[in-house]
Amino acid sequence: MLCIDLRGKKALITGSTRGIGRSIGEFLAKAGAQVVITGRDPSRAQEIAKEISEKFQVQTLGVAMDMANQESIKEAYSKIEKECGGVDILINNAGITKDKLFLRMSLEDWEEVIRVNLTGTFLITSLCVKGMLKARWGRIINISSVVGFMGNVGQVNYSSTKSALIGFTKSLAKELASRNITVNAIAPGFIETDMTAVLSEEIKQSYLKNIPLGRFGKPEDVAGAVLFLCSEYADYITGEVIHINGGMY
Ligand code: NAI
Repeated sequence: MLCIDLRGKKALITGSTRGIGRSIGEFLAKAGAQVVITGRDPSRAQEIAKEISEKFQVQTLGVAMDMANQESIKEAYSKIEKECGGVDILINNAGITKDKLFLRMSLEDWEEVIRVNLTGTFLITSLCVKGMLKARWGRIINISSVVGFMGNVGQVNYSSTKSALIGFTKSLAKELASRNITVNAIAPGFIETDMTAVLSEEIKQSYLKNIPLGRFGKPEDVAGAVLFLCSEYADYITGEVIHINGGMY
């Protein structure tokens, strides 16, 4: 029987107190990994970490890490290093939207989204890569989006960060391949989470019409692909993008 065994691996998932990030945490824990749950609110991160630990009988850690703040990222990483001794698997999942039509988009709207989605990813990846280089093993998975490929009205800032994550993935994959560290991206389509819950019924129905599989995605649809990319069955895949969108793109 084939099975994915991540026992002995330490996985850090950014923005993992809910939605896709939380589901990824659960999938990796189910495969035996020690997972680190992070978010802006420390008590929420600890609460989710405890729930996952009890459910899957693995060690977990819940740490506050605000992806918009370099000091918070550094502090969180030191704590993770001290408690777990480093990170083998990094899932860059945290992401925000600040949707506005381009002509109404302020520099602040632009910078806030870039800071969390892109600069935050750069900062935490820089910290985690050092340990992976020493260990000569690592998995980095960046959560991009279908809109980074298709574009979307009102999302010039957000879609720019999601396209940029593809360049980030492909370039870093080339730099780290000789050290047995793979870097891949996942580009989800419309996934039912808090992020998409705010959209009007009319907009949701217009998206649904363009999804050949006839339904929106679930966080688990993304988490399954992340688990595969972390497994030994994906050892020869790097610099790749997996699209998970029910066929809409
Ligand atoms: P969500 O809004 O439910 O979750 C986002 C997570 O990021 C939350 O845990 C939130 O607390 C965290 N976060 C936001 N700002 C943060 C900050 N400054 N520091 C630390 N954590 C922060 O959204 P969802 O849908 O679970 O999104 C996860 C990722 O998937 C995001 O990168 C999003 O762009 C991407 N994605 C989502 C899609 C969807 O349809 N839901 C489609 C394509 C991509």
